Amino acid sequence: MQIKEKLKSYTALKRGILATNFYNMETLHGTLKAAAELNEPIILQLTQSSIEYMGLKTATQLARTGLEQFGVEGWLHLDHGGSKEIVLTCLDAGFDSVMIDGSDLPFEENVQLTSEVVKYAEKYGAHVEAELGYIAKLGQAKDKVGFTSPDQAKRFVEETGVDALAVAIGTAHGFYKEKPNLDFKLLSAIAQNTSATLVLHGSSGLSNECLAKAISLGVGKINLATEIKNIFMGTLKREMAKSDEIDLRKIFPVATEKITELIKEKLRAIHPA
Ligand code: 13P
Ligand code: ZN
Ligand code: NA
Repeated sequence: MQIKEKLKSYTALKRGILATNFYNMETLHGTLKAAAELNEPIILQLTQSSIEYMGLKTATQLARTGLEQFGVEGWLHLDHGGSKEIVLTCLDAGFDSVMIDGSDLPFEENVQLTSEVVKYAEKYGAHVEAELGYIAKLGQAKDKVGFTSPDQAKRFVEETGVDALAVAIGTAHGFYKEKPNLDFKLLSAIAQNTSATLVLHGSSGLSNECLAKAISLGVGKINLATEIKNIFMGTLKREMAKSDEIDLRKIFPVATEKITELIKEKLRAIHPA
């Protein structure tokens, strides 16, 4: 099934699809194993820096062959595409979905940029996500100034024809220094104002209850990154401190397995029985 239809059908059932970033074979396979064991679909995300790290061809082929190897239904998505150039490169490379992040731009410029990407994506039937409002990037200040306005969301989706919209309701990328305080009333208002799939960014550090609540109010895609890196590197550090083992094929699987456990927990949280 196309990602667009799948997101729509899941959202209608008040379910969400988990979108996870991967950085290498281990983080990818750890995630795919979880999706396979719970028989759930997954969106595999690459940022520009992950593409630069692995190389575009290696990264996309790793994802495609991984889905096949683990027998998982999933899609390849560009996360936070920061320029038209990177977005078009990924569309040409066969990505199922791209995010154009024009959230730093004034409203009209964000509309313009997003519209251009939507038009280009049409020739591939690809799915497009945009961002409206301000979701703090790693290390940025978190304040309420940039929350998504329901009226602007409505206009933005109508004017751009975008499929999915990242909303700013109080989440932030990375871990939270203080307990996050999400504006669920605002989320409901946005959901009532638009038919676009709503995307929750910054899910690392949110409780399972928070994730479930966001889904129940209409979020269709849940983005998770930092917790994956954190559990992988934390486990590696502990394992390496324990022994002088130099065979990475003995050490890495322990960390990969921790990712599988993490992703299974998240999948269970967002798909209440
Ligand atoms: P976290 O790093 O907080 O999980 O956010 C991930 C994200 O929004 C990727 O787009
Ligand atoms: Zn994000
Ligand atoms: Na976060």
